[in-house]
Amino acid sequence: MYYTAANIVLENKENIISNLLLWIKNTHPNRTDTLSKCDRDLRNVINAFINGLKFNNKEHIQFIVEEFYRNNTLQLQSTDVEVACYTMLRDQIIELCGGEIHANSESLQTINHIKYLYNELINQLVNGPVYTEMNVEKASFIAERCQRNWDYDNPVSIADYNSIIQSATTMPSKQNRQYYKLLVSTNKDFNRLCYSLAVDRTNPHFDQPIHRNGQVLAPMLMIFMPADESQIDDPFNDDFEKNFHISIGLSSGVAAHSAAMLGYKTGFCACAAWEELYTALNEQYNIPIPTWFRGLMLGIGNPIWEYSRHNVFVDNVLYNTDDSYDKIVDVKFVH
Ligand SMILES: Cc1cc2nc3c(=O)[nH]c(=O)nc-3n(C[C@H](O)[C@H](O)[C@H](O)COP(=O)(O)O)c2cc1C
Repeated sequence: MYYTAANIVLENKENIISNLLLWIKNTHPNRTDTLSKCDRDLRNVINAFINGLKFNNKEHIQFIVEEFYRNNTLQLQSTDVEVACYTMLRDQIIELCGGEIHANSESLQTINHIKYLYNELINQLVNGPVYTEMNVEKASFIAERCQRNWDYDNPVSIADYNSIIQSATTMPSKQNRQYYKLLVSTNKDFNRLCYSLAVDRTNPHFDQPIHRNGQVLAPMLMIFMPADESQIDDPFNDDFEKNFHISIGLSSGVAAHSAAMLGYKTGFCACAAWEELYTALNEQYNIPIPTWFRGLMLGIGNPIWEYSRHNVFVDNVLYNTDDSYDKIVDVKFVH
């Protein structure tokens, strides 16, 4: 593990990004209209270096390259600017880690790993990915992201549907009490209704289709809803709200990761007019209204490979969403 180096890159991330963006702007002014995409790609690549250093593997780099080759097609006009940019990135990271000239044996190991990550990135970016099998890390990168368009001709198989539900609903909860109920739908009309109410009524942007939560319009939709508190046999009087949130976090997280392991894409949505949604589900599908208007939705299925995961595709119209967020969780290692 090269955690110190990972931290150094993380601390300098914004600086590195602004330097490299400035370089792109100055040397390739005609790319300026796609600068926000460059910014997004750079963030992804730097995060992949951080994770590669932190966990001593190339899994995040591998994921990034496969994303660049979505649908077996390179998603960039060319790779020359990227190669130049990532070469500068490599050199900046090496410098930040003390540079090559005065490196001792420990920092040389770090530098070699940085070069290894860089070589994997560049070789596969230029020559095409050497695809690897699905694994725990790759699945986690998929589950972290939000798929917003779906291929309805290629739904979740029955066997996988059962596996996902089983793994999700067998996650532990406080004294194995049932703090949530699960609704699972493969009914397109039902999912369409949920999608139409996956809105924030207080946010006027939701009047624009660009802000629609396309992830909800998935072939398989899971809705984690509150159980009836009065039905829970709890001699300790544990906090219901806290346990509901923990329980659906565990369950939905495993659902998403299991689905990704099985080759699907996933997308979460907590945004809904929950009272309206539960009322409509009650009126139209006879689903009992929970005592509490909270919930979480998880869409699962196969993507339309031609489109980026950010694209919402509804009624044959394609909308681009720019809502995408990154994180690097602070992990302290104690050995
Ligand atoms: C609990 C939870 C709730 C979420 N709610 C929403 C939501 O209401 N709307 C939305 O667009 N994305 C929602 N997301 C998706 C995250 O924003 C997304 O996973 C994150 O931005 C990274 O993925 P991306 O790069 O594909 O955007 C939610 C994710 C989680 C885990």
